[in-house]
Order: sequence, then C-alpha cells, then structure tokens
Amino acid sequence: SEAISLPDTRFSFDGLFGHFDRASAQRGFQVYKEVCSGCHSMHLLAYRNLRQLGLSEAEVAGIAATVQMMDGPNDEGQMVERPGRASDRFKSPFPNEQAARAANNGAYPPDLSVITKAREGGADYIHALLMGYGDPPAGMQIADGMHYNKYFAGHQIAMPAPISSDGQVEYHDGTRATVDQMVTDVTQFLTWAAEPELEERKAMGVKIILFLTILGGLAYAVKRKVWADVH
Ligand code: HEM
Repeated sequence: SEAISLPDTRFSFDGLFGHFDRASAQRGFQVYKEVCSGCHSMHLLAYRNLRQLGLSEAEVAGIAATVQMMDGPNDEGQMVERPGRASDRFKSPFPNEQAARAANNGAYPPDLSVITKAREGGADYIHALLMGYGDPPAGMQIADGMHYNKYFAGHQIAMPAPISSDGQVEYHDGTRATVDQMVTDVTQFLTWAAEPELEERKAMGVKIILFLTILGGLAYAVKRKVWADVH
C-alpha cells in the first residue's frame, strides 16, 4: 500500500526535555470519558492512576463512583453491582469482543491503553487519524457503514469521526474546546496512558548524556596529563 506521510504535530512530550502537559492530559481524559469510552476500553488503567495527572483523591473517587462495577460473588454466590472505586480498572464499554463487534458493524474498537505504542507513528498518527476524516477523493467508493479517513490504512474506517464539532465537550478550565484542541488533548492523555514513565526516561537520558560528557572530558584531561612528557 502507498505510504502516507503523517503531519508532524508538536507535542509537549517531544524531544530530549519532553514532559506531559498535565492540564491537557486531564482535559484529554475528559474527552476519553465523554466520547471514546462509549466504544473503547482502556483496561490497563485504574482510576487511581489519574492521581499522577494531578487529580485529587476526592476527584478520583468521584469519577470512579460514577460507574457501576460487577463484583462478587457475595456470601449467597451472587454477582452484585457496586459503585466503582479508585482501585478499579477503567470500566469497559462491552463485556467482550463479540459484543463490541456486534455494536460496531462487525469492527472491533481496539483497547486504547497502549495505542500510541501499538501504532506506527505513535501520537502523530493518533492525532492525524482523528483529524483525518473528510470527503473521499472523487471516484473512491466507500462501503456502507464505513468512513473515509486519509490516514487509516486503506482509507476506509468503521469508526465514525469521534470528534467532529467545536464544543463537543465542555472544558472547565476555560480552554476553548475546538476540534483540534480536543484531539490534541486526548492524544496527550493517550500518550501518558501508554507511557506514564516517559518523563523519567527522558530525564535519565539527559543525566546519562551529562555524565558521559563530564567523564569524557575527565578522561581527556587525564590522558593529556599522563602523556604530557612523552615526545
Ligand atoms: C478504531 C481512537 C471514539 C469505534 C480506533 C483506533 C483508534 C481510535 C486509535 C485504531 C485505528 C487503527 O487501527 O489504526 C478513538 C478515540 C476516540 C474514539 C481517541 C475518542 C475521541 C470511538 C467511538 C466509537 C469508535 C465513539 C464508536 C462509535 C471504533 C471502531 C474502530 C476504532 C469500530 C475500528 C475501526 C476499523 O478497524 O475499521 N479508534 N476512537 N471509536 N474505533 Fe475509535
């Protein structure tokens, strides 16, 4: 298949000193919760992990409590529903893959826990995919229930454009919820979810480079001194 070059989106987590923009990632969680979680699970995440993004214990407990979790069996051998807790994994929208496919025209919405690692192009790809909807080029037939997407392999995707109009979610921090902003925020959130230790990894890289630079300089100075009298 033809290779499509991805637009190179600038993210706070790019580069040697990359870091997460926690406000953006928090908004991105809101987008995931209000839009994506209707179809996509994130089964590797627990609500308590959101503490890392700066949410308070009370906020996390409040978010977890909005879902009902199956638990049990209890003393009578019954499974019972109870409100979610901080220690629960994110609730999945469907009980299993068949149910997910049945609700999505036979297509399977993949789990998004590590999606930025699972797809070539990472965050750039996710951003491009979410922005990549539009009219198909003249002459291209799109099958029933499918949607044209410039960046999806084969250009026909079962997922309808999930983020399609400004103001689709209501941000509480005053940020304008444009389509691009929501896409950028949810990509920030998904990148954090896939690699929460990214900042430590990059900081370690910087330390190692610094260490090797100093060690190299020292070795050179010693070499000069040791060999100073050899002519
Ligand atoms: C596929 C992200 C919302 C249904 C995907 C893929 C990603 C993604 C990254 C994988 C594409 C690939 O394989 O390369 C998101 C995000 C959403 C969102 C970030 C929220 C902003 C939704 C919603 C639905 C949905 C609300 C259901 C109405 C699907 C389906 C697929 C899919 C069925 C499989 C597509 C195919 O294989 O043709 N989504 N999605 N998604 N998504 Fe979503």
